[in-house]
Amino acid sequence: MNKKISFAGPSITDKEITYVMDAVKTGWYENYEGYIKKLEKSFADYLGVKYAVATFCCTHALHLAAASLGLKPGDEVIVTDFSWVATSYAVAYTGATCVFADVDPDTWNIDPDCIRKAITPKTKAIMLVHTFGHPAEMDKIMQIARDYELFVIEDAAPAVGAEYKGQLVGSFGDVSCFSFQGGKMAVSGEGGILLTDSEEIYEKAILLANMGRTDSQAVFWSDFIGYEYVMSNLTASLALAQLERVDELMEKKRKIFDWYFDRLHKIDGIKIVREKPGCKSNYCYPSILLEKSVRTPRDDVVAGLRLENIHARPTFPQMSRFPVFEQRFENPVTQFVAQQGISLPSAANLEEEDIDFVCKNIIRLIGRE
Ligand SMILES: Cc1ncc(COP(=O)(O)O)c(C=O)c1O
Repeated sequence: MNKKISFAGPSITDKEITYVMDAVKTGWYENYEGYIKKLEKSFADYLGVKYAVATFCCTHALHLAAASLGLKPGDEVIVTDFSWVATSYAVAYTGATCVFADVDPDTWNIDPDCIRKAITPKTKAIMLVHTFGHPAEMDKIMQIARDYELFVIEDAAPAVGAEYKGQLVGSFGDVSCFSFQGGKMAVSGEGGILLTDSEEIYEKAILLANMGRTDSQAVFWSDFIGYEYVMSNLTASLALAQLERVDELMEKKRKIFDWYFDRLHKIDGIKIVREKPGCKSNYCYPSILLEKSVRTPRDDVVAGLRLENIHARPTFPQMSRFPVFEQRFENPVTQFVAQQGISLPSAANLEEEDIDFVCKNIIRLIGRE
């Protein structure tokens, strides 16, 4: 069998090992939250915002974001129809209704025109995703938010380091969230973080993440229903080391993308998703679309790659089709991308010859040799 070409996976160096060993040895007693505080401060400084709350995972951070904004049953939140389901579930946990908007065919990010069409008097917020590390259209989205007085939550789970017009994603909305899950560019196993400039959102998020404890009457007193969502100190040590290497990690992702681009962009029937002018993607998950002219079904391509020990992935299904949600719009672009999209391997241990092997197999499987 060929070498396994992993879909995702981190770069772990002596820095990560040193930080984690230090946390294991010294991260207790008076230092029990030392790495958590360092991670929160470093991430907030990196983004240029005031506050951060490190969480067990990004799903929790997104839920805290939605809950801290006061979203509740009867409210509507406009959400992209194309994402990992955590995006919409975080809204659904509050009882608010997800209204799914279609995506831009070039970036697979929420389409600002579709956001406008989805607004009703009940709309309270927009939850966008920087899909696969590509910055969403922040100028247009922030303008819509101002026009209709809506909150903006940035689900930047895979997008650390990505920039829109020279500004890091996650620093535009009222609140943003990133993931350190093991398949992301910067990992801690599981892990997430919420960021905001708003003291009010921050204070609420902290309380909710700590079981609603206000210490108003006793240490273990709880004034309202909260959650156990906080990150561990050990996890934070790994996340911090990765954050400190974010430029280097992103450089590798961008190099992998370039290797794919060189080999695939001229192949008839393949559209490779690329950053738009003025945007810098972190290319967390380089992805392609098989156009209608390709006869091989997408899932057969993914299965064919698997036979060569290449771990690519079909893109997300259309969330609004899930039985738990109401589908208000057809969202044809999402439908097509959900059927025809493939995310390609981009683990940090891959080299040019691996990407070459992946591309040759894709080209063979779609009959374009
Ligand atoms: C867009 C998006 N949002 C949210 C999440 C949830 O992140 P986590 O696994 O850290 O909860 C993910 C994870 O893959 C994601 O891709």
